[in-house]
Amino acid sequence: MKTQPYKIAMLGTGLIGTFYTMALHRQRKPDRVQLVYSRSGERAKTFANTWGIPKTATDLKTAVSDPNIDVVLIALPNHLHLEAVKLAAAAGKHILCTKPLGRNAEEAFEMLEIVEKAGVFGGYLEDLVYTPKTLKSLESVRNGALGDITWTRSREAHPGPHSDWFWNKELSGGGAIVDIGCHCIEIGRSYIGKDVLPVEVMCWADTLVKPIDAEDNAIGMIKYVTGAISQFEVSWSFRGGMDLRDEVAGTEGSLRVDHFLRTGFEMFTSVGEKDYVAEKAESDTGWLFPVGDEVNSLGYDHMFEDMFDSISQGRAPIESFYDGYVVNEIIDACYRSARSRQWEPVKLKVWRGESGETKKIAPKSYDENYYLIKTEKLNDKRSKLILKDKKTGEIVQREV
Ligand SMILES: NC(=O)c1ccc[n+]([C@@H]2O[C@H](COP(=O)([O-])OP(=O)(O)OC[C@H]3O[C@@H](n4cnc5c(N)ncnc54)[C@H](O)[C@@H]3O)[C@@H](O)[C@H]2O)c1
Repeated sequence: MKTQPYKIAMLGTGLIGTFYTMALHRQRKPDRVQLVYSRSGERAKTFANTWGIPKTATDLKTAVSDPNIDVVLIALPNHLHLEAVKLAAAAGKHILCTKPLGRNAEEAFEMLEIVEKAGVFGGYLEDLVYTPKTLKSLESVRNGALGDITWTRSREAHPGPHSDWFWNKELSGGGAIVDIGCHCIEIGRSYIGKDVLPVEVMCWADTLVKPIDAEDNAIGMIKYVTGAISQFEVSWSFRGGMDLRDEVAGTEGSLRVDHFLRTGFEMFTSVGEKDYVAEKAESDTGWLFPVGDEVNSLGYDHMFEDMFDSISQGRAPIESFYDGYVVNEIIDACYRSARSRQWEPVKLKVWRGESGETKKIAPKSYDENYYLIKTEKLNDKRSKLILKDKKTGEIVQREV
């Protein structure tokens, strides 16, 4: 089995193609982009010169079939993911695809079937599950530090995307939900447990500000089979930069993570420094919120490490095409709910998580006769226990 270095064909030279190449080519890493595809030969050459990439292509099929290439990395607009997956799988290449996997679940499921039938690797590039803060938080959650997870909240809000195609529903598949809700949904799912079945969804979506057909603001709740709720909030009209934060609550603890804007790094400049501050920053003077090592903070380093290690070891990555498909099914349910104003079921064609009776979040036992509702230390220094009788249901308090 080939281990490393892997030779990558980068499809796309926009914002994410740039972030991915930055992550791959820095810190003396071995896996490198050996070919870049763009519709424009001139843009491909400029990108290749900037990043020291030896080859360029302006034809998608030629790019993915290049015999020197092991891995095809799809960093193209959403409407081109399926076509690129088809071509790359037919050429027998391993595939890494950016989020969202499909414009809808039907496309995502087709992509999942294509990679699995072709026997090639299908990695879903959900970077925000791989940020150093998220990885550490997930480890704590898995070690039981928060007990049973009851609720998650993930928020991504910014002033809107940076290219025309995002704003065109046909090309993108929708608005803020499909574009950035996909991150929030997978973050929540990761905390609750990816083997826990998402059951149903309630979602509000509206076009409040922008002159577009798709939603520019939305809030959704995903109910999991354990009873846990995963909440997301997304906006394409939020002013002041990119607001990325997550909260998790469990029966034994809670945590809160700020990834952008409020990271503890604040700077004031009256003159600016005529340079890039951070993704979606709205100004370069006044109070600024830079991000120390943006590529690492957004998860790209750890994401690629997992992807290439997984290919080498013949294992599934943390984020696979199957995960991308589940996210797309949840998004489809969100759109149905926003239209119907009702809870809508998540209609998974294939479920690969826990089957049978799943453990619900259970009340905590105090002793054989009582459940523990609450302990409290009062301002007059007394301590109380609030208990519920398991047989009669009576609620009592005791001073201890
Ligand atoms: N954090 C993330 O994971 C993240 C962030 C941003 C974007 N994305 C995803 O990456 C993909 C690309 O987004 P982006 O922000 O780089 O967009 P972008 O507009 O900055 O870049 C898109 C690239 O595709 C090219 N392109 C556009 N239309 C094309 C066509 N019809 N045929 C061939 N090439 C075409 C553009 O020239 C450009 O090189 C999208 O799927 C988006 O959702 C992911």
